Amino acid sequence: MQTTVGKDIGIAKQLLESGELVAIPTETVYGLAANAFDARAVAKIFEVKNRPRFDPLILHAKSVDAIKEYVIEIPEWARKLSEAFMPGPMTIVLAKNEMIPDIVTSGLDTVGIRVPHHQLLLELLRQLDFPLAAPSANPFGYVSPTNSQHVYDQLNQKIPYILDGGVCSIGIESTIVGESDGKPVILRLGGTAVEDIWRVIGECDIEIHSTSNPINPGKLEHHYAPNHRLIFGTMDFEGYSPSEIGIISFQKEYPGIPREHQITLSPTGDLKEAAQKIFSAMRILDAMNLAVIFAEHFPDIGLGRAINDRLKRAAAVKSEA
Ligand code: TXA
Ligand code: MG
Repeated sequence: MQTTVGKDIGIAKQLLESGELVAIPTETVYGLAANAFDARAVAKIFEVKNRPRFDPLILHAKSVDAIKEYVIEIPEWARKLSEAFMPGPMTIVLAKNEMIPDIVTSGLDTVGIRVPHHQLLLELLRQLDFPLAAPSANPFGYVSPTNSQHVYDQLNQKIPYILDGGVCSIGIESTIVGESDGKPVILRLGGTAVEDIWRVIGECDIEIHSTSNPINPGKLEHHYAPNHRLIFGTMDFEGYSPSEIGIISFQKEYPGIPREHQITLSPTGDLKEAAQKIFSAMRILDAMNLAVIFAEHFPDIGLGRAINDRLKRAAAVKSEA
């Protein structure tokens, strides 16, 4: 199967309507989409990504208003979050109704839903009479794609079409909020800052378990990972020759290490800019002939928390997954 990259919503629409997969741009990362109401189409997502069937997918809706068509009810916290942050990098996990096939939610009675903040994708969603089920468009466990070339590099010949919507403006996946014991709880750190969420619904728990709990593999210890060994937080280069070291830093450059092996995410100290570039930095360094990639620990505020979460998991050894 030849993979085409283009900006044609008509082609994407026609493929999705006939049960095929299309890679879609969003403001967070590129997704690998199928008609959420077509269980056979959704099954192809798991095959192409090599993703375990127990890992639930996120539903992409065309508007905040459309969310109520797919859930039993919208609790107060979810209504507030949807008003404040949607469209945007925010996923809410709610009790699903019978419209949503089990394969989308891996048999869970809840579904994660978001309204993407991306004009081309919203235009496509408005032309479809079904929502899109879509995980990030990378092979399971690898770094998420933030431009169409990233998707092409890994899924060429596996899907018919990549809808090219440019470079993702947020660059890191959506923040996921669900409910536990009747209270909201943050399940994944992402593109909406925790502090902003707390300002809207009050302080709530963050439950990012680094276990291999198969209920929520987005929390798996080893995930979002490049192929190279990645060392997170300690910038101690002893034992390595400078030419075999790659560096991901926030603001500064490290003397003695080749410039071209160093990616400084935001010299001005902007965590949003750093988040936007973190995954492509991992990919760029992963393509180089290095022994190891060192990544700094970022400030634990705003999107810095999500960056640290991804780096921590990229650094975890594979056997823990
Ligand atoms: O920004 C994003 O959220 C991107 C773009 C493409 O929308 N999507 C994304 O999907 O990151 P994915 O499949 O890579 O991550 C989805 C994660 C799952 O691994 C799981 O942790 C969580 O979302 N999830 C989905 N449905 C859930 C549910 N019903 N309960 C708990 N967690 C759920
Ligand atoms: Mg993913």
